[in-house]
Amino acid sequence: MSRTTVLVVDDIASTREDIKRLLYFEGDISIVGEASNGEEAIRMAEDLKPDVVLMDINLPGIDGIAASELIANQTPDTAIVIISIQGEPEYLRKAMAAGARDYLVKPFSCNDLAETIRRVNNIYRMRPARTGMQPAGENQPDRVNPAGKIMVIFSSKGGTGKTTLSCNLAVCLAQTGKNVSLVDLSLQGGDVAVMLNLAPKATIAELVQEEDLLEYSLVNTYLAPHMSGLKVLPAPLRPEKAEVVKAGHIEEILTQLKSNYDFVVVDTYPLFNDLNLSALEMADEVLLTFTRDLPSVKHAKIDLDIMENLNLSQKVKLILNRSTQDYGIKISDLEKSLNASPSVILPNDEKTVLSSINKGHPFVLTHTNSRIAQNIKDFAAKMELPVTSNALEAVGAKKSLIGRIFSL
Ligand SMILES: Nc1ncnc2c1ncn2[C@@H]1O[C@H](COP(=O)(O)OP(=O)(O)OP(=O)(O)O)[C@@H](O)[C@H]1O
Ligand SMILES: [Mg+2]
Repeated sequence: MSRTTVLVVDDIASTREDIKRLLYFEGDISIVGEASNGEEAIRMAEDLKPDVVLMDINLPGIDGIAASELIANQTPDTAIVIISIQGEPEYLRKAMAAGARDYLVKPFSCNDLAETIRRVNNIYRMRPARTGMQPAGENQPDRVNPAGKIMVIFSSKGGTGKTTLSCNLAVCLAQTGKNVSLVDLSLQGGDVAVMLNLAPKATIAELVQEEDLLEYSLVNTYLAPHMSGLKVLPAPLRPEKAEVVKAGHIEEILTQLKSNYDFVVVDTYPLFNDLNLSALEMADEVLLTFTRDLPSVKHAKIDLDIMENLNLSQKVKLILNRSTQDYGIKISDLEKSLNASPSVILPNDEKTVLSSINKGHPFVLTHTNSRIAQNIKDFAAKMELPVTSNALEAVGAKKSLIGRIFSL
């Protein structure tokens, strides 16, 4: 078995020693070098060509961000993992945009460290053309064949876990090396940027005010990079700005993203409005979230009914969230009432979910062994790209869904 080679970069000798100690018993990981500043790190990365570089941000001379950028360009087969202290979100974002693949917040456990090294290394080994990879944040060339899959996370009921699922699913897909974008259509105060610890300057509201939305390179400049590789189109920063976004914009943006990403995940607002309906119409898959309580089941039933009347039901998958909250409704009764079984069942796990939301670190990255993270990973692993492009056909054969809803 070949060992994963690691270069440790940190200016504090005791931190490097701690990392060595943490990895001492990991038989599949081997530390091949240590550097105490950016220049040394760049030189050693070029000489040693390690699988993974563990990179501190605050270094004397060339800092960890600039060093990451140089290493990502010079040695594209090396995966960079940033090791940072709490309270450096802005730097973490910059490091990710500079080409870092993952991050660890100090202090981290032996398990977190070894798992992160294995994960980024596995992703890099899986990639067929790593040398063609660009650092996140740079323009990607337009793809010739639109083949992406649009996944809309929806429920007409608030608080069923749409944003939690959207963020974690999108990050999870991005972690497997797929090109993934996430659109926050919860326009009146969407939480995606907060959950992913992004501080975007531009959002969908500014994008739609651009003249030529059909330019992919333009859309791309509005996407905020997350360190998982995911690209995020954030919701407007102020609710009053939401009004400028119209259903036609959603179609144009999703068409662009579908042509350029393997997966386009769309988080929605709990309402059957024309914006959500545009997204639902373009969706290849609709993930309908609900929880184990009567109001939520009632909403899910109505949502399924409306989807059926709109000929969308073949796209719908049910996601039962917080399934372990047993307040007297049996899962078998839910299934009977909805006449369908959930495709995914997620447990109730307040500790994991809330601490992940509050820190802005998706739990699929930070609590990889939790059941909820595992369930989302299993679901993501089974996800396939569509063979044909439904959404583009849907745009061609467009008929207003909002009109159809009211004429039911
Ligand atoms: N599986 C879970 N276990 C525990 N808590 C959860 C779980 N899923 C979601 N939550 C909690 O439920 C709340 C609502 O979640 P979330 O914001 O993802 O729902 P939403 O459907 O996006 O809400 P909205 O309709 O307001 O946009 C959050 O506080 C989150 O912490
Ligand atoms: Mg939400």
